[in-house]
Amino acid sequence: MRKVLVIHYSQTGQLTRITDSIIAPLKQENDIQVDCLTLEPEQSYPFPWPFLRFFHIFPEAVKMTPQALKPIDKTIVNAADEYDLIILSYQVWFLSPSTPISSFLQSDEAKALFKNKAVVTVIGCRGMWLNAQEKVKKLLNSLKANLVDNVALTDDCGAAFSFLATPMWMFTGRKKAYSWLPTAGVSEDDIVNAKRFGLAIKKRLQRDDSLISQPMLKGLGAVKINEKLIASERVGNHSFTIWSKLLTALGPQNSVRRSCGLLVYVVFLLTLILTVVPITALIKKLIAPLTKKRIRAQKEYFAEPSGE
Ligand SMILES: Cc1cc2nc3c(=O)[nH]c(=O)nc-3n(C[C@H](O)[C@H](O)[C@H](O)COP(=O)(O)O)c2cc1C
Repeated sequence: MRKVLVIHYSQTGQLTRITDSIIAPLKQENDIQVDCLTLEPEQSYPFPWPFLRFFHIFPEAVKMTPQALKPIDKTIVNAADEYDLIILSYQVWFLSPSTPISSFLQSDEAKALFKNKAVVTVIGCRGMWLNAQEKVKKLLNSLKANLVDNVALTDDCGAAFSFLATPMWMFTGRKKAYSWLPTAGVSEDDIVNAKRFGLAIKKRLQRDDSLISQPMLKGLGAVKINEKLIASERVGNHSFTIWSKLLTALGPQNSVRRSCGLLVYVVFLLTLILTVVPITALIKKLIAPLTKKRIRAQKEYFAEPSGE
């Protein structure tokens, strides 16, 4: 019997649907047992998000400050040695893994579960996940886990439109917040087609009983690297690191002092999105002939281990 542990958290249910689509082929098999661990923050996050509340969690998300989670099923932790594979599904919050996920990855339970385990990460986000995955890679490394594959599904409406459509989904609770905005979120087709990853994992699990140490999802289009966003993510991460320290120093979550700082920060963030993102994309395009080799190397690096 092969055993797979699926760990996930989802606010709107989008990541649950992506994960369900991937694990459906595994669940149909008699010789594969799938256990699911759904993380729940002790203090749940609101959805839709009140405008300022959304930004109040920014410093803790960027600094990956652990937040309390509801106790998890101990039988899963006690069976840690039995799992052949862990599927870790997460969404991105402020270029970082969402707080429930980063909190869990820093817990004692994670230490027991992830040690020497093959891991497939599954990301469902607006479109900027490179920096978050670097952070997850570091956490997995410290847990002595072995990342064998990564799937990233991103919002369908394109990088530029999603800068508006996705936050509006978060603030209104509606995927199509206004008639003039495109629909936010990962497309239905992409969610349904994610089944192909489950089929490939199933095939590998049933092939033989050996340890999973190599990618299973190569050639399946598990990720798509938007090279225009590589530089924006680097600049964004840099400024997020500085701002998160500044805002934490101003006061705790929901304090008046942090709220005041956040209003300045939001203006800064909008300026960043409206200037740095298009400018770095344009500069990248202009100097593309000179940087072709470096960009190809960067794309290959970020596409690892599954490849585009
Ligand atoms: C607080 C917050 C910050 C977010 N920041 C990002 C981000 O930096 N990059 C990104 O691609 N998506 C970002 N998103 C979108 C999420 O990754 C995800 O697509 C959306 O929240 C739906 O996920 P769900 O399955 O939890 O409902 C953010 C969402 C929230 C709520």
